[in-house]
Amino acid sequence: MTKNLSVPLIDVVLFLIYNRKIDIFLGMSNKDKIIVALDFESCDKALALVESLDGYANFFKIGLGLIGRGGLELASELKKRGLHVFLDLKLFDISNTIKNAVSGLCEAKFDFLTVQGDPQVIKAAVEGRGKSITKILAVTFLTSLNRKDLDQNLIIPGEIDALVCSRAEKAILAGADGIIASPKELSILRENPLCIKKIIVTPGIRPANSAVDDQKRVATPNDAFKMGASYLVIGRPIYQAKDPLSAYEAIKTQILNI
Ligand code: C5P
Repeated sequence: MTKNLSVPLIDVVLFLIYNRKIDIFLGMSNKDKIIVALDFESCDKALALVESLDGYANFFKIGLGLIGRGGLELASELKKRGLHVFLDLKLFDISNTIKNAVSGLCEAKFDFLTVQGDPQVIKAAVEGRGKSITKILAVTFLTSLNRKDLDQNLIIPGEIDALVCSRAEKAILAGADGIIASPKELSILRENPLCIKKIIVTPGIRPANSAVDDQKRVATPNDAFKMGASYLVIGRPIYQAKDPLSAYEAIKTQILNI
């Protein structure tokens, strides 16, 4: 009797998801996995970078530096142009205020919005988000912090990766769609049953031989992607490069080959 060698469809789909050949979150391919941080002091400069990457980069992050300078209007403009937008506001407040703030921000249907990883903040954010498509991502510990900084911030003793993991678990149980963590925590997070299929966005990305700046928990784009990052957030290594498009393309080529 001949053996049936056909592979069940579900196994093929799971293989593609786990190997990130298809994106279960936003329907994007590997080439859209780099989120360029627009950390400029003016929207004109930010828009100039977006335009210089036109046709190459599709995902941009607008954070606190641009908010007082028309950043929300820029974020809406990028959405109108069909680009993906990550609004990185790291919100933290009482539940009623978070719910109200998130509900207003989600009207514009940005792709990602960050809040602090405290369960009560996330629950309120998820309520405020309602039926909007915006994914709520929880900040665990900033990639610019090391254990010494956590001591200063009165965070309980323990290895950072284990603390990030339990903060991530609590965030996900509270309803977060994903988390922000450094590439250093990816292996422990991807082994955790609660985090295995969640969105993990990693800042703290530095190509080999580039300046670390104020970041402390860093890895190369290759390593971060190999260890299971869903998206890489990259700022200075791209926008401070002599040729940002070449810098972006070099990183993209590296991760496309994984
Ligand atoms: O320039 P660089 O690549 O270090 O930029 C990293 C970006 O990611 C910055 O916009 C920063 O605000 C953001 N970020 C971070 N660490 C987090 C969350 C966000 O560096 N935990």
